[in-house]
Amino acid sequence: MKRTTFNVAVIGAGAIGRYHIESFQQHPAARVVALVETNAERGREAAEHYDIPDLFADYREVLKRADVDIVSIALPNYLHAPVALAALKAGKHVMLDKPMATDARAAARVVAEAKRRRRLLMVGQNQRFTPAVQTLKQLVERGVLGEVYHAKAQWLRRSGIPRIGSWFTQKEFAGGGCTYDIGAHVLDQTLYLMGEFAATAVSGQTYAKFGPRGRGDGAWGQSEIDPGRPFDVEDLSVAFIRLRSGRTVLLETSWAAHQPKPDVNGTQLFGTEAGATTNPLQLFRPGRRGYRVEKIRPLPPRVNPDRMVHFINVLLGREEPHVRPEESLAVQRILDAIYRSAATGREVRLR
Ligand SMILES: NC(=O)c1ccc[n+]([C@@H]2O[C@H](COP(=O)([O-])OP(=O)(O)OC[C@H]3O[C@@H](n4cnc5c(N)ncnc54)[C@H](O)[C@@H]3O)[C@@H](O)[C@H]2O)c1
Repeated sequence: MKRTTFNVAVIGAGAIGRYHIESFQQHPAARVVALVETNAERGREAAEHYDIPDLFADYREVLKRADVDIVSIALPNYLHAPVALAALKAGKHVMLDKPMATDARAAARVVAEAKRRRRLLMVGQNQRFTPAVQTLKQLVERGVLGEVYHAKAQWLRRSGIPRIGSWFTQKEFAGGGCTYDIGAHVLDQTLYLMGEFAATAVSGQTYAKFGPRGRGDGAWGQSEIDPGRPFDVEDLSVAFIRLRSGRTVLLETSWAAHQPKPDVNGTQLFGTEAGATTNPLQLFRPGRRGYRVEKIRPLPPRVNPDRMVHFINVLLGREEPHVRPEESLAVQRILDAIYRSAATGREVRLR
């Protein structure tokens, strides 16, 4: 029998966990029935605020519950793969925030489990849902840019470390710094626009020039701060990525850097007939009266722009999955290769 309503358990009530709750609560077919949070006060406050009936401190409690259909994971990075795997094994559908894991092998196990169990698994690549990306994707597919042969993917913050001393800045809990945190978004969005996820070679470098000096702090996140812990992740990275087709991507990410603007975030596509950027949403190409830079009006989105609403719509059979597990795994492989390349000083070959 076809399901018409779904019960959701959200795990983690930090900055993005609250968004997970609000987002699912928008859909008439979704009910957030449980919340899991290790910080008792944060958990109580969120459960009360969002009127969630059950609160737990251990995620295994919700996995035991037969009435929970979906587990939505908003935890520190090192818990993504193990909790997702356990949830899939318990037969739950999984909305997993990015990065998918802290290493590609663990990510691959999660993807395989979802396939085996025939559960919906989607990674939180919300940038793909933005009107700019959805519009540009349609223009690429219509051939407006001609052959897209190269792309620049940038997310560069001037002062946006998600709080020095939080789990984000400790390798043990985050796996990596800005490359995993915001590179995961802008690389995913760029590969999606290019319509190709398989990379053959990656050359990368990482730097930590601000965080270790206590500079470049931002305001994101709710987790505890331990100023005694070392900042042992990167706050800037660059990478040159070769795709299987021979096309290329230049990726740059920073949590902290000296630059004129506080935040530069977007993809630039280089096509044979036109170029385009996502932010601002513009197309550049020759016109009858010289070279033109055109603002593009957003086209109607193909899927619901809210990823949680979309997730439920997929389960209801109303929309096709917009982010596929294999694509997120490919992104994870490239991000991992950046770290390996930076550590060895060599190009990393991928199959
Ligand atoms: N998709 C996006 O746009 C986006 C944006 C921000 C963050 N994120 C991702 O979401 C995840 C969470 O980020 P955040 O900014 O919300 O972090 P956060 O530190 O604000 O929240 C994490 C929460 O998890 C709780 N927690 C830790 N261990 C737990 C456990 N074992 N069981 C239950 N709760 C536990 C913490 O107490 C905290 O409240 C990260 O992986 C981050 O990369 C995604």
